[in-house]
Amino acid sequence: MTTILAIESSCDETAAAVVVDGRRMVSNVVASQIELHAVTGGIVPEVAARQHLRAVVPVVRQALTDASMTWDGIDAIAATAGPGLSGALVVGLNAARGLAFARGLPFIPTDHIEGHVCANWLGDGDEPPLPALALVVSGGHTELLLMHEDGRFTRLGGTRDDAAGEAFDKVARLLGLGYPGGPPVSRLAASAGKHRVRLPRAWLRGTDDWSFSGLKSAVQRMVAEPGAPPQALIADAFEESVADVLATKTARAAEREDVRCVLLAGGVAANARVRSRLRERCGVLGIPVFIPPPELCTDNAAMIAAAAFRHLGSAVAATDALDVYPTLAPRMRVGITR
Ligand code: KG4
Ligand code: ZN
Repeated sequence: MTTILAIESSCDETAAAVVVDGRRMVSNVVASQIELHAVTGGIVPEVAARQHLRAVVPVVRQALTDASMTWDGIDAIAATAGPGLSGALVVGLNAARGLAFARGLPFIPTDHIEGHVCANWLGDGDEPPLPALALVVSGGHTELLLMHEDGRFTRLGGTRDDAAGEAFDKVARLLGLGYPGGPPVSRLAASAGKHRVRLPRAWLRGTDDWSFSGLKSAVQRMVAEPGAPPQALIADAFEESVADVLATKTARAAEREDVRCVLLAGGVAANARVRSRLRERCGVLGIPVFIPPPELCTDNAAMIAAAAFRHLGSAVAATDALDVYPTLAPRMRVGITR
């Protein structure tokens, strides 16, 4: 039995969790900065980093308290090493390295995207069979990854411009909704009723890539039109366009790559329409779809512990970790090859 305490601070959540054997969550604490960033309608990196500094120690303490544990029960410490906002990452990464050094524990620098994918292993449901195709859709990333085995991925494609979550956030801003944009756009879309308007889809045929900036511009033009449709219809058309291209292209790639299942992950995986469209498109092909519960789709540290568990073998001593930081290339380390 291996118990990992993980810290996540790549963006706007300060999080810590205790997870046993990469699956059983003993505690999972997330301190959100959403209210802080709602004031500016988006994340100011320096503000995020300073808030991580305030929150990281209380959040780690809470994770141990919730787990009814002392440091004696912890076997290894992990932290998100990237990708993310550098000032934000440094806070969690250095807190984790300091703790590992003080406790003489192995330290596992962990990839945030791999963390999102591994959220599908948390809990006591069936384990996803491999090889799998993983669609990671978050505020910073839209990536299609072929997961051959634990810790070995090939990147098949991704967004050429805005990430899917970023598109939700920008459209929310165009519609005068709050930050983060996904949930309010989705709620507005759900009130659309029976009428429909249609927005374009960028298929980028022959590739596993996406593009969402044209869609965002189409929303901008539609909003500005004289006699523009009601905002709920625009939100509905936007959400449908995103869900349709994500689900259709992922299902096609899953069939082509002959994978045993599809894994959805990242903040946008909390979106009900994205979830259901992906299940529909893959269901027709008989390909099972795994999606974490919504609270494990958005950033959290349990997913980082789940990914770290798969890299116990490449844990470093905390003293070595003092040297590895400047040259750390976690994407290379976990074998996500382009
Ligand atoms: O994975 P995440 O928490 O942080 C990053 O790693 O970026 O993803 C945050 C993104 C934001 O862009 C947010 O608007 C989006 O996920 N999001 C959603 C929903 N919940 C969060 N997008 C669509 N529908 C949702 N229900
Ligand atoms: Zn994330």
